[in-house]
Amino acid sequence: MKKLLITGASGLIGRSLMKHCHNRFDVIGTYNTTDYKPDNSVLKKLNLTDTAELEQCLDAINPEVVIHTAAVSSISGCEKDPKLTEEVNYRASAQLAAFCVRKDIRLIYLSSDMVFNGVKGNYSEDDEPHPINQYGKSKYSAEEAIKGICQNYVIARLNLVYGKGDAVKKSFTDELLIANWSGKSYPVFKDQVRSPISLNAATRAIRELAEGNFEGVYHLGGLEPINRLDFAKKFISMFHLVPEIIEEADVPEELQGIYPMNTSFDVSKAKGDLKTVLMTIEEGLDLEYGKPQVQ
Ligand SMILES: NC(=O)c1ccc[n+]([C@@H]2O[C@H](COP(=O)([O-])OP(=O)(O)OC[C@H]3O[C@@H](n4cnc5c(N)ncnc54)[C@H](OP(=O)(O)O)[C@@H]3O)[C@@H](O)[C@H]2O)c1
Repeated sequence: MKKLLITGASGLIGRSLMKHCHNRFDVIGTYNTTDYKPDNSVLKKLNLTDTAELEQCLDAINPEVVIHTAAVSSISGCEKDPKLTEEVNYRASAQLAAFCVRKDIRLIYLSSDMVFNGVKGNYSEDDEPHPINQYGKSKYSAEEAIKGICQNYVIARLNLVYGKGDAVKKSFTDELLIANWSGKSYPVFKDQVRSPISLNAATRAIRELAEGNFEGVYHLGGLEPINRLDFAKKFISMFHLVPEIIEEADVPEELQGIYPMNTSFDVSKAKGDLKTVLMTIEEGLDLEYGKPQVQ
């Protein structure tokens, strides 16, 4: 089995990848601050901004494939700390890419729909990115660095990931479930169109990209573009949650202009090339949470 390193294995997608890759790879994951292992998986501590630590970690593990999920991933958090965002999301990713080139390691980099400005929507891999927030800018800079130096790489741009995770960071739908159980409301921004993808489908697609000979950029999203608010309403109605938990929210004044309106994806390339099935929202929710009970 090939040796696989997953950075950010304590995160939402990294944890799911750890669970779904262990039968196919000899897999080791890294965490930075969240030493959370509900299943006793072995995670190695790695702060990506420490170049020496990064090199030592990669030398010691000596992987054949790296799936790089680690990032400062909160859009508002990135606006608050652009320096850390650039260090982790861009500089450390470029450093990691350089190391992968030197050691002939295949690199799968997880990027984001936030590289687009959200004006056009239905973005394909051929569309030119124009990020409008710190997070998107840092992810796009990392993409450019990887494209510039790597040969054996995939840039997998993910759209909004939903579903049943077991990391400390919760997905959008898990947040709605928690709000329902706790009787609290959950703010959902209006007017944001996304192509939500289930955590399970995203994980399988990323694993397939890591296993095969795929190259270049791939857009991973669900088959249906939908407004975030309508998605929340659909989830609530399918699973008979309390409608009042949705708090229709406007973007706060200090964050206006940083959330792209429509970052939906054209997923034809992934649909054509991958065996992993990209799904409608109903199919994805069914896969994540099971068939809703009829009431
Ligand atoms: N979730 C989505 O909807 C979505 C959509 C588009 C793209 N993506 C991309 O997918 C990837 C994974 O996202 P996610 O939702 O799983 O993120 P997440 O849950 O926030 O996890 C982020 C991971 O990065 C690690 N990390 C942060 N700073 C680090 C540092 N300085 N050194 C080493 N590790 C560090 C965290 O480690 P600790 O917690 O241990 O500190 C954590 O394991 C990201 O690259 C993101 O840009 C996600």
